[in-house]
Amino acid sequence: MCGIVGYIGDKQAQEIIIGGLQKLEYRGYDSAGIAVLTQQGLLVDKAQGRLAVLEGKLAAQPLAGHAGIGHTRWATHGKPSDENAHPHTDASHKFAVVHNGIIENFMPIKEELISKGYTFVSETDTEVIAHLLADLYDGDIVSTARKAVQRMRGAYALGIMTEHEPDKLVAVRLASPLIVGVGEGESFIGSDIPALLEHTRDVYILNEGEMAVLTREGVQLMDAQTGEKIEREIFRVDWDLVQAEKGGYDSFMLKEIYEQPQAVRDTMGARIDQENKRVILPELKMSDAELAAYDRLYIVACGTSMHAGLVGKDVLEKWTRVPVEVAVASEFRYRDPIYTDKTLMIVISQSGETADTLAALREAKKSGVKVLAITNVVGSSVAREADEVIFTWAGPEVAVASTKAYTSQVIALYLFALYFAQVKGTLPADEIAATVDHLQELPAKIGAILENVEPIRQYAHTIQEATSLFFIGRGLDYAVSLEGSLKLKEISYIHSEAYAAGELKHGTLALIEENVPVVALATQSDLFEKMVSNIVEVKARGAHVLGFALEGDRELAKSVDEVIHIPATTPMLTPILTVIPLQLLSYYTSAARGLDVDKPRNLAKSVTVE
Ligand code: F6R
Repeated sequence: MCGIVGYIGDKQAQEIIIGGLQKLEYRGYDSAGIAVLTQQGLLVDKAQGRLAVLEGKLAAQPLAGHAGIGHTRWATHGKPSDENAHPHTDASHKFAVVHNGIIENFMPIKEELISKGYTFVSETDTEVIAHLLADLYDGDIVSTARKAVQRMRGAYALGIMTEHEPDKLVAVRLASPLIVGVGEGESFIGSDIPALLEHTRDVYILNEGEMAVLTREGVQLMDAQTGEKIEREIFRVDWDLVQAEKGGYDSFMLKEIYEQPQAVRDTMGARIDQENKRVILPELKMSDAELAAYDRLYIVACGTSMHAGLVGKDVLEKWTRVPVEVAVASEFRYRDPIYTDKTLMIVISQSGETADTLAALREAKKSGVKVLAITNVVGSSVAREADEVIFTWAGPEVAVASTKAYTSQVIALYLFALYFAQVKGTLPADEIAATVDHLQELPAKIGAILENVEPIRQYAHTIQEATSLFFIGRGLDYAVSLEGSLKLKEISYIHSEAYAAGELKHGTLALIEENVPVVALATQSDLFEKMVSNIVEVKARGAHVLGFALEGDRELAKSVDEVIHIPATTPMLTPILTVIPLQLLSYYTSAARGLDVDKPRNLAKSVTVE
């Protein structure tokens, strides 16, 4: 996730671009940069660090000109640095590009360009686009950009400019958001509406595979593949700025829930080898042989990240037959764990700054144990101190209640588990290939759930006055129940408990009485009948049961009061889908109770104290 801005008109581009980037800093803030067409040609300035660092440089040496593009970065390929900051240019500094997303096939393109004599100065995937444009340039930046885009696989929102054609900017979108603004004698590019709102309320929201050619006179939309012109009515934005920053949603949490198809897609990104239907983890420094030798794993994390770890445990054990222990970091750091030279520790942290997780990581390293981190923040303490890092590409998460970070963590764990299974040889290739296919279907399936939220919203209204609620499940459904229960407690302040459904009768069943709401997850086919028996137990005590089953199931409805179906997938992957309605349930319950969804009482986003 990064933010991009572009401007062409009669005003000073620098001022407008920096203003837009300030609104987009939430999308990334490890470096920023700007390219402007000046009297001296195409000039670029960029700097590692927050946007303020770049602003300081530009204050001392402004770039004067009326067309430009800018970027605020959330590092994917390549660490945060001046060189890796955007815009990237070709060697002759005639073409500049800003990019949000990941070019999955950048490696073969880069190798081809290197063999033709192009030299690269950054570690980014984006730089290939600048060289590719220079290589393909045919005197028309629009047809050149189309040719370049046809070579690229992945996700991108691009802003492109060239000194050869100073009166044009080109914007392209595939699977990363992009907006084009239309003003009087000026046109704009932005990753989202707030970046443009100060200057125009007339926008086009680009659809997948669309390109826009911007001039002072206006904007022409076209299909990036065919070049066919697209006529569309302008969208008039009537949100105020605060609404716009939340993307039109009434809270960051809801916005982040809806960002999950993208976050999941980005986290899988270039880590799937499409041709061979396998997982690749180029970021791992250790060799496959070294990885294959590990025979015991600890997963250590807090809260929601620990719940992601519980899903990871089941999946890792199933696919690799390596025993995994999941521990809460605040407990683990004071334990005396049994390490061997074949123990690997995995820490999971969205922020990468959680004090307990960081302390557990340091303790393990002191004992000579290798630590692999799964984190969302490049440059965070966890990312810097771990031996190995797998980043989740969820983009900044603003709401205190974690949603898209959780699903991205679970995806990262699936990818790691599959890769570990590949190097250990514990899963047949056809099973890996089938799972890879199922993984890639998840973004669309999450999207389908998000399109039909009404039953959940209605159920939230029925529980908004409840004083206590239970989530029950078996196996992976139990792991998801824990997360559903935490989410509800956290933002609705309703007491809830998650129980392994088979454990109820050992005590908790005493709490079930007339009309107590129970949310029962029944997505695991091998445990389905046992789960139904547990549901019947709570129904017999008067509970009101909302059940979750996979699409196509006709049985669960016979035993529960209400049933919600989620799209079918392979049993190991259901947590990614089941958790979505549970997140929505907590959101709608909190909203119905009139609470501050994004900032629940007593909690902070990043817990940097013990
Ligand atoms: C709950 C939530 C917290 C965090 C926990 C760990 O919605 O967000 O439980 O998961 O504080 O935070 P990170 O992942 O930043 O280490």
